[in-house]
Amino acid sequence: AAAATEMAPTASGEDGSKPFVEEMRAVAMKLHTKDQAREGEKEPQAPPVAKWEPSVEGYLRFLVDSKLVFQTLEAIVERSAVPWYAEFRNTGLERSEALKKDLEWFRQQGHTIPEPSPPGTTYATLLEELSEKDPQAFICHFYNVYFARTAGGRMIGKKVSEKILDKKELEFYKWEGNLSQLLQNVRNKLNQAASSWSREEKDHCLEETEKSFAYSGGLLRHIFT
Ligand code: HEM
Repeated sequence: AAAATEMAPTASGEDGSKPFVEEMRAVAMKLHTKDQAREGEKEPQAPPVAKWEPSVEGYLRFLVDSKLVFQTLEAIVERSAVPWYAEFRNTGLERSEALKKDLEWFRQQGHTIPEPSPPGTTYATLLEELSEKDPQAFICHFYNVYFARTAGGRMIGKKVSEKILDKKELEFYKWEGNLSQLLQNVRNKLNQAASSWSREEKDHCLEETEKSFAYSGGLLRHIFT
């Protein structure tokens, strides 16, 4: 498929290169482990999702920290310290309202909702900093956080729910409207934003992917430890 893409560049690759989101996706897919995704190349350092023994307490820590991360991303594009961040407002991928509803549901079930903890708070701080000082790095995190949630994230949600929530589907994993259309709209906006970046800026964005995996991995760790 890669060869075909190179031979028949799509409209977004103005210089005959592939659309930038495909570059971001390729780097991200390689950072998966072989048991996570077919295109993964990393050796697993954590147990595969099927072997997780999640607890409600751990899952709640994950949801609370995830809510903080999404709220931070949503506030950053709302504020738009960098004017073109405004393109990424109201994409339909926003998750903080859905997480708010889920946490309210847990509270009504009698669970205590924890405060955000360091994996979430340190990630939120990093995102704030990058959004002002390093837009290319920020966009890498923006892409990975939202797109990871729709692929592996949904699979994780399903498995955890089967094991500890009697298959309840959380709002976190439901999107209003056609998800693939929402994703495609955001891919187009990302390609558009990156079309004015130099090759160095693009590479800088791609290099941030590893950090994005490390920080998101810190959140996921709540579920399986
Ligand atoms: C896509 C699994 C963690 C970022 C995917 C796909 C799977 C997957 C099955 C779809 C592959 C395909 O389209 O053929 C998992 C599992 C994870 C995990 C099981 C952890 C247990 C992560 C993390 C990140 C991430 C931590 C980054 C923060 C992405 C991205 C895509 C993706 C950007 C591409 C989505 C798209 O093109 O629409 N993942 N993943 N994933 N994942 Fe993950």
